[in-house]
Amino acid sequence: DHITWSLDDARKGGFEHYMLKEIYEQPKVFFDTVKSTENDSRLPMLRIPAEVTVVACGTSYHAALIFRYLAEEYSHKRVSVEFASEFKYYTPPIRDMVIAVTQSGETADTLAAIERAKSRNCSTLAITNVLGSSITRIADWTLFMCAGPEISVAATKSFTAQLAVFMAILNEMCDGRFTDTLARAHCSVERVLSYELEDAVAIIKNASEMFYVGRGVFYPVALEGALKMKEISYIHAEGYAAGELKHGPFALLSEETPVVAICTPSPTYGVMLSNIKEMKARGAPVIGIGAEGDTEAQSIVDVFIPVPEDHQIVQALTVSVVLQLLAYHTAIALNRDIDKPRNLAKSVTVE
Ligand code: G6P
Repeated sequence: DHITWSLDDARKGGFEHYMLKEIYEQPKVFFDTVKSTENDSRLPMLRIPAEVTVVACGTSYHAALIFRYLAEEYSHKRVSVEFASEFKYYTPPIRDMVIAVTQSGETADTLAAIERAKSRNCSTLAITNVLGSSITRIADWTLFMCAGPEISVAATKSFTAQLAVFMAILNEMCDGRFTDTLARAHCSVERVLSYELEDAVAIIKNASEMFYVGRGVFYPVALEGALKMKEISYIHAEGYAAGELKHGPFALLSEETPVVAICTPSPTYGVMLSNIKEMKARGAPVIGIGAEGDTEAQSIVDVFIPVPEDHQIVQALTVSVVLQLLAYHTAIALNRDIDKPRNLAKSVTVE
């Protein structure tokens, strides 16, 4: 007998692609990272000041934007988020603390941004997935994500681990009010992993452009969903704040431009439904992501994707995972090179 499997197949643990394997690891990664951050003795010593700036690139930038919405809403701290590549070259008002979030710990722009923060006497915190990476040698403090090695170029579980670190920081800033919510968040994520989303994929796979819209914390969730779709399916997907679509992009809407609209329960639910009706009126097929059992939202969209009811900090995570799966299954339908998309690198070490 001879061996009919490769080492690579073995590492994929029975999954067809690393990306899907890494998507499935997320409930555990979230749980482990929240626990390890909460148990980190340095966390209370960090003393997050009233104003912080977060610098990052790509998917890490979207995790930072989610932190901004949550931290400003629940802890009333002022959080600014900057592209690392911009922070380096202009002079925003100095904050007391600059946080760099980077999966690899090696992104050139992020390293340059944190160097610049240090030279301006800010205290610096790195959030990274890689022990001993360059960023850990520059920043004053480091918090580690427990994502494990991420092989697929498109970030999935590292994004979830970044959210876990940020949410544990948020919980610390809010005197533990989210401890229970975070401890059971993985249960909601578990429930969406097997979604194959055939009806949504059938609409999207023939499109050459599309939009993702959300409000509040679901706006950066929409940005990240669009980025995943661009990266692995090569469909031009744009994330937008739902209220901004009428200020320009409406001119692009037609039967050929699907819109993914996040309409989970929130104070902006009513206005999201009005936005969806406006998009439908312009002919766009709408894929809605909303709470299980929401027959009202279901009745106005073309395809409805239900997510379990939960606190919005958990739904930000659950919806993000659904959008990863939507990109994955669309890219499968288009026969793309899932784990190694064209022109992209896992880690960008040049400016
Ligand atoms: C590259 C990767 C992205 C990643 C970005 C930032 O563009 O393809 O997936 O989000 O770099 O990487 P970092 O390691 O700093 O999080």
